[in-house]
Amino acid sequence: MIGGPGDEERRLGRLVRAHNRWRGREVFNLLASENALSPTALRYLGSDLAGRYTLPIPTTANGERRTNDYGGTRYTDQIESLANAAAARIFHGRFATTRPLSGHIAAISALAPLLPRHSKILAVPPADGGYDGYAPGFLPAMLDYVVRPLPAVPQTHELLAEPAVEEIRRERPNAVVLGQSFFLFPYPLRPIAEAAHEQGALVFYDASHVLGLVAGGVFQDPIREGADVLYGSTHKSFPGPQGGLLVTDREDLFSQLDPALVWRVFDNAHWHRIASLAQTLLELERVGPEYARTVVENSQALGTALSARGLPLVGAERGFTRSHQLHLLVPELLAQWGVGPATLGRRWERQGMITDLVGRIGTAEVTRLGLRPTDMDRLADLMVRAGKDRASVRSEVRSWRREFPTQRFI
Ligand SMILES: Cc1ncc(COP(=O)(O)O)c(C=O)c1O
Repeated sequence: MIGGPGDEERRLGRLVRAHNRWRGREVFNLLASENALSPTALRYLGSDLAGRYTLPIPTTANGERRTNDYGGTRYTDQIESLANAAAARIFHGRFATTRPLSGHIAAISALAPLLPRHSKILAVPPADGGYDGYAPGFLPAMLDYVVRPLPAVPQTHELLAEPAVEEIRRERPNAVVLGQSFFLFPYPLRPIAEAAHEQGALVFYDASHVLGLVAGGVFQDPIREGADVLYGSTHKSFPGPQGGLLVTDREDLFSQLDPALVWRVFDNAHWHRIASLAQTLLELERVGPEYARTVVENSQALGTALSARGLPLVGAERGFTRSHQLHLLVPELLAQWGVGPATLGRRWERQGMITDLVGRIGTAEVTRLGLRPTDMDRLADLMVRAGKDRASVRSEVRSWRREFPTQRFI
């Protein structure tokens, strides 16, 4: 029967509106894996592009097209070229694709075409802050790789040059996959890349967490420091739509990578996402340095303010962080506050401050709202009252949040 929306549709509408109101207007989002899109980037996600196909199939590294089975693509193809060119410029490689649908898919897009089955890779294990996807049962199992641990420093999860170089020389891998989910400090990338290249190994840099910082010229400059391929998510410290991208300066690699993607890793690449990503890239070309600098300043100021109020954090002796992340020092937290990260995260959420439940605090999204280092004392005070004293601070959080109705850095 044709009629108006049914009960489930109305319920769905209420759920979406409630989510948007709650997450978009009433809370401070301190999830290290998330960010807020600019109004223009968000609008492009809801544009006509959302339902369209185009499938230009690249045959050469300079983007020459072989076929496109679809009509109606005169604008989509230009949007893609614009996105790829912006990604290449910003991340300092000559070749880029914005087609990967997520950071995980970007990893598959980079690794599968360049590393045959039975390749040996070195990656930081999840216990040392590495991405779960590189653990033996996941991507390596799917792609039939052997993965060996690249050892990181306990607690801070840093990579030090000497042990990393030693491990590379001992293991003689086909590739070193850098990048972590718990990521506070940049890598000594040059000596690591040199050692890898001496062994004939490729260096992949998974910038999923730090992509927005790299775009703004802080943290590090992976391709110029020796990474062969940089890839990652476009929605963590990088304030774009959910998705991924991949950049390299090596034509020999890109000419193997790009043509291998369509029909192996994906078919349609979601052109509304690519338009939205292009917008974010262009915005960051203008405001990225100030945005990235402020994110790091906010993390360091929040670390200092939380630590001064007794919250145990990793890396106090090193200024806590050089990224958008802070990490809870879990054993001390359990001993001193009697809670673990999950309980603490739930307490914060009930009071309007959202974090993950595994001990990371992120400052990227509150920075985009306009919070400055001078605001971090007040934020820390609310977090400690809510997390340690179990005080009700929700209405104070909500009214403070209302002071930030728009975004900066757009
Ligand atoms: C280092 C790293 N790589 C890849 C991914 C996967 O990214 P996505 O969720 O965009 O697929 C994550 C996700 O948290 C990550 O931390």
